[in-house]
Amino acid sequence: MAFPASFIDELVARNPIEDVVGQYVTLKRSGSNLFGLCPFHGEKTASFSVAPDKGIFYCFGCHKGGGVINFEMEIEGLSYPDAVRALAKRAGMEVPEDEQYQSRYRQQERLWALHKEAARFYHSQLYAPVGAEALRYAAGRGMPKSILTKFGIGYAPDSWTDLVDYLRKKGYTDQELRDSGLVTVSKKNGNLFDRFRDRLMFPIIDVRGNVIGFGGRIMNDKDKSAAKYLNSPETLIFNKRKNLFALNLAKKSKLGYLILVEGYMDAIALHQYGFDCAVASLGTALTEDGANLLSRYTDQVVLIYDGDAAGQNATQRAIPILEKAGLQVKVLQMRDAKDPDEFLKKFGADRFKLLLEESSNRVEYQLAAILKKYDLRDDDQKVQYLQESAGLISTLGSSVQREVYAGRVAEVAKISLDAMKLEVNRAYKRRQYQEKKKQEKIDLSPAKNLQPKSRAIRYDNLKSAMAEEMLLSLILREPALLEEVKDLEADMFSSPLLGRAYDQLCQRHRQGLEVSLSGLTDFEPEEMSHIAGILQRQDGPVNEQALRDCALTIREEYQKAHTQSTDDLMRLREKMQKSKGIKA
Ligand code: UTP
Ligand code: MN
Repeated sequence: MAFPASFIDELVARNPIEDVVGQYVTLKRSGSNLFGLCPFHGEKTASFSVAPDKGIFYCFGCHKGGGVINFEMEIEGLSYPDAVRALAKRAGMEVPEDEQYQSRYRQQERLWALHKEAARFYHSQLYAPVGAEALRYAAGRGMPKSILTKFGIGYAPDSWTDLVDYLRKKGYTDQELRDSGLVTVSKKNGNLFDRFRDRLMFPIIDVRGNVIGFGGRIMNDKDKSAAKYLNSPETLIFNKRKNLFALNLAKKSKLGYLILVEGYMDAIALHQYGFDCAVASLGTALTEDGANLLSRYTDQVVLIYDGDAAGQNATQRAIPILEKAGLQVKVLQMRDAKDPDEFLKKFGADRFKLLLEESSNRVEYQLAAILKKYDLRDDDQKVQYLQESAGLISTLGSSVQREVYAGRVAEVAKISLDAMKLEVNRAYKRRQYQEKKKQEKIDLSPAKNLQPKSRAIRYDNLKSAMAEEMLLSLILREPALLEEVKDLEADMFSSPLLGRAYDQLCQRHRQGLEVSLSGLTDFEPEEMSHIAGILQRQDGPVNEQALRDCALTIREEYQKAHTQSTDDLMRLREKMQKSKGIKA
């Protein structure tokens, strides 16, 4: 779907990149750029830049970059046309498009609306006669009406087509019903049936407030044949790896941290008892996407998984994922109850608060977990305990931290602090040596470092490519300079990507359109990132001489590469003469 260039230019002009990015990232000015924490990868120091004058963003850490449309695509996971539609909506602009065109975005909007209807239906059933038992179950689990309302909890009746009928009446097509994942399709005759039957229903709501799926719990735990929780399947609008239950509420919490738990009921109970910062992963282990999502709203996470072995394993796996996303991790060790829900209902909020205050940073937690594995009365096991602990401690960034934890372990194992420090040092050196080796490997091939990250945009001629990069950055910053290099042709560029960009910019210039990165079309996200990176890295003086030098290099390199045969030579001469003629 191609939008008119003038429409895109207006769209870009009406969506200043600093405003759009500012909705997701706190930006601070530094010179002509704004900087903030990158929303696309975990980090503690701001390497994410926005250049309002150039209309671009670029992260010096993860190398993502582009114009405002690329940002919208990346942050909301939208296709190019859908990102354009979203930005148009934001700026109150009408999108010129083909009426026939059933966009993915419209399909999504229909599915969001359908889910909202379904949530309404389930919620109403809870208070209908068929829902009496479900309501009793909810009360039995200590959920007051206010919580049922707040979370939109509902009941899926024990029937075959109640929801199907309801949604059909509301005007949804069978195709839309199938796309929603809320129905199952009979293999025999293709008939549609409700997927969720006789279950307590938990709507899953994304951070923008759309209902995107459901979790449904059986109410009779004795029935071992049914899964305790049934979740919506993955659909166009539901990705369980990229969403977290209750984050729509928790993101507004004033507590300053987020609590991550395993189950719907745990998150709900925490909210009920005043810990309004709780979220739960959606029937899967925590993913990198989930951690990155959390890091958009906080920099500290308290992990509270079940006290059983499975919960402890999940905790160990979640720690590095969260830390990689730049989050500070604390772990609350569940005790006297199997999970937070049970604990709160047994002992109340005050005692839970004590647990929360006691919750340790992840190092203490991990050291305790190592200790549990070994019997220190056995000498061999004691040595293993010391080595494993030293390995963990050696990964810590600060020497003070290493000293403190070495001391604790030494005390536990009843060895001298010096011996323990020696052990940690050994592990530390081993690690440093390995990292140095890795770095050397990278340093040994400097040319490789200048190369774009992606294979699709590798440079064949580095000398020419560097001149091409500089030239692009010059004309993007000062489009009038294009007049100076009218004779330089895109096919003289050694890099097809940079040549294509140059070609489009020239065309836009000729048509009197904005010569900017944001207006470029038909570039892959990684290609845009690459060009944005060039623009953000090159900030030398803008002048004609610099431009001419670049153009000269590009021409010379082109010439060198194309003088293999006399034929080529002839053609090149012609071309050079022709272009000189125009110039003179
Ligand atoms: P649990 O089974 O640990 O929760 O599931 P629980 O505390 O015993 O459940 P309640 O409190 O009695 O209701 C924790 C989470 O794992 C996922 C769900 O997301 C659930 O909230 N899960 C569990 C499933 O997706 N399917 C299942 O069959 C069980
Ligand atoms: Mn529970």
